[in-house]
Formats: sequence, C-alpha cells, structure tokens
Amino acid sequence: MNQNKLISYSYIFTFFMMTISGFGQMPIFKRYYMADIPGLEWLAKYYITHYLHYLFAIMFLSLISYISMEYFLTKREKLIITTSGYVGSLLLSTLSLTGILLVIRNFSGHLFSSSFIVYLDLIHLGAVILILMTGLFCMVFNKKWLEKP
Ligand code: HEM
Repeated sequence: MNQNKLISYSYIFTFFMMTISGFGQMPIFKRYYMADIPGLEWLAKYYITHYLHYLFAIMFLSLISYISMEYFLTKREKLIITTSGYVGSLLLSTLSLTGILLVIRNFSGHLFSSSFIVYLDLIHLGAVILILMTGLFCMVFNKKWLEKP
C-alpha cells in the first residue's frame, strides 16, 4: 500500500470513529436500540465513547496537520484549493477548534460561562452535520478539494 492510500484510509477510519464516538456521547445509540445489537453494547457506555473520541481526536488532529503541512510544503505549486476545499477546510477547522475548547471545558474548574459552553456544543455539532452534508455533496457531484491550476 502506498503512503497516500495509507493516509486516506487512516483519515476515513478516524473520521468514522470520531462520528460514532461523538454521537455516542449524545447519547443516541441506547435510545434508538442500536446498542441492543450484540457486539455494539459499548456504543451506550459513555466513558468508552468519550475516551475513544479523545483517542481518535489525537489521530484526527495529527492527520489533518500532516495533510496540510504536506500540501503547503510540497504540493502548493502543483495543485490549487477549490471552493469545496476552502469550505471543507473551514468546517474542519471549526470542528477542531470547538473540539479543543470542549476538551478544555472538561478540565476541572469553571473556565467558561455556561452560555459559551452551549454555543461551543452547538457549533461543534453543527460543524459535524455540515461536514457530513458537504462530504456527501462532494462525493455525489465529484467535487475535488484540490485541482490542477
Ligand atoms: C471528525 C471530527 C469530529 C466529529 C465527527 C465529532 C463529533 C462530535 C459529536 C457528534 C459530539 C457530541 C456533541 C453534543 O453532545 O452535542 C462531540 C462532542 C465532543 N467532541 Fe467532537 N467531533 C470531532 C472532532 C473533535 C476533536 C478534534 C475534538 C478535540 C480535540 C473533539 C472533542 C469533543 C469533546 C470534548 C466533546 C464533548 C464531550 C463531552 O460531552 O464531554 N471532537 N463531538
């Protein structure tokens, strides 16, 4: 398997696990009986999905840092970022920033006001929904994030 394929598969798997573990914390899998399917009971265990979300957030942030650095250092002259690429990057940045702030929120003490926390949660969730919709749109209409100038 070449390096680009390895990065793509790791990104897809990490994104999938982030989505599953994120929605697991809402929690929707118990409510809609998905956690009753044998083998999927862990989806309803808050601490499991919570720590999985943290673990895959490390993977996710490492992967997007690697992909962006690789683009800026080696591909910038050969490929340009399309509108879909800008929209996707903006949404991923919003998701990562609100995610990092939510991790800080989870530290002991009261660092943020309760209304700010509600906004953070809603923006994080809103960014997830928009990314999933944009991803589907780009797949259906074959919109690439990068193209030749
Ligand atoms: C592919 C990327 C991501 C997806 C799909 C995702 C999805 C979600 C979802 C659906 C929730 C539940 C929101 C709610 O309860 O209203 C959530 C919560 C959260 N996410 Fe993410 N997220 C992603 C990236 C990140 C990153 C990069 C971080 C941290 C660096 C992060 C940290 C958190 C935290 C701390 C919470 C709140 C958990 C709690 O209730 O204590 N997320 N995420």
